[in-house]
Amino acid sequence: MIEFDASKISWQDQYKLMVGSVTPRPIALVTTLGADGPNAAPFSFFNAVGSDPAMLMFSVGEKAEGAKDTVRNIRELPEFVVHIVSDAIREQMNVCAVDYPPGVNEIGKAGLTAVPSSKVRPPRIAEAPVAMECRLMQIVDLGRKPYHVVFGEVVHFHYHDGIVNERFHVDVGRINPIGRLAGKGGYTRITDRFEMPRIPYGKGSAGE
Ligand SMILES: Cc1cc2nc3c(=O)[nH]c(=O)nc-3n(C[C@H](O)[C@H](O)[C@H](O)COP(=O)(O)O)c2cc1C
Repeated sequence: MIEFDASKISWQDQYKLMVGSVTPRPIALVTTLGADGPNAAPFSFFNAVGSDPAMLMFSVGEKAEGAKDTVRNIRELPEFVVHIVSDAIREQMNVCAVDYPPGVNEIGKAGLTAVPSSKVRPPRIAEAPVAMECRLMQIVDLGRKPYHVVFGEVVHFHYHDGIVNERFHVDVGRINPIGRLAGKGGYTRITDRFEMPRIPYGKGSAGE
C-alpha cells in the first residue's frame, strides 16, 4: 500500500488523485442562459442524488478570472438543462469545454442544435439522447480552492425515441454514454457490460 496525508500534498496532486481514482465519471453537458445568451459546458464532477423529487448535482471550479459562466448564469437565472453525453456527441461536448469569453454561444460553435425547453428558459440540445430540465435547489460553495456544487430538481425529462420503455426502464445501450477517466483526454465507452442481481434483503444487501 501507498498512502498520502492529504494535508501534506498540493491541491494539484490531490486533484490528480481524485480524478484518477473516482472513475469512470458520467459527464453532464449543462446549458444555462445568461445576459449574453445561452451557454453550454461539460462537467464530470456530476451525479444523481435522489428521486423524490428527482435531484442531481454537478460541481464547478473557478477560472483564474473567477466564476465560470455556468455558475454565474445559474445565480442570475436559477434554471438549467443537464444532458447526458453520448459517444455520438463527444467531439461537440469537447468544443463546449473550450474557454470562450462570455457571449460566445458554445452550442452553435459545436454545431449542436438549441431547441426550446418545456419548463425552463435555457434551451436544450436536440442531439443529446437525454435532457433533464432542472430548477436550482441550492448552490453549496466549498473548499479553499473554491468549488460550487449545484443541486437541481429535475422538472422535465426528454429522451430520444427507443431509449425508455412503457415501464420507464432506460436502455443505457441506446444512450451509449461516455465516461470521463483521468488525464487530458481519457474517456471510456460502455463496451463491456455484465449483470449481477441484487442479493435479497437479509443476506447482505445495501441500498443506493
Ligand atoms: C469531460 C470534461 C469534464 C469537465 N468537468 C468539469 C467539472 O466537473 N468541473 C469544472 O469546473 N470543470 C469541468 N470541466 C471544464 C469546463 O467544462 C470548462 O472550464 C468550461 O469552459 C466551463 O465553461 P463555462 O465557463 O461556460 O461554464 C470539464 C471539461 C471536460 C472536457
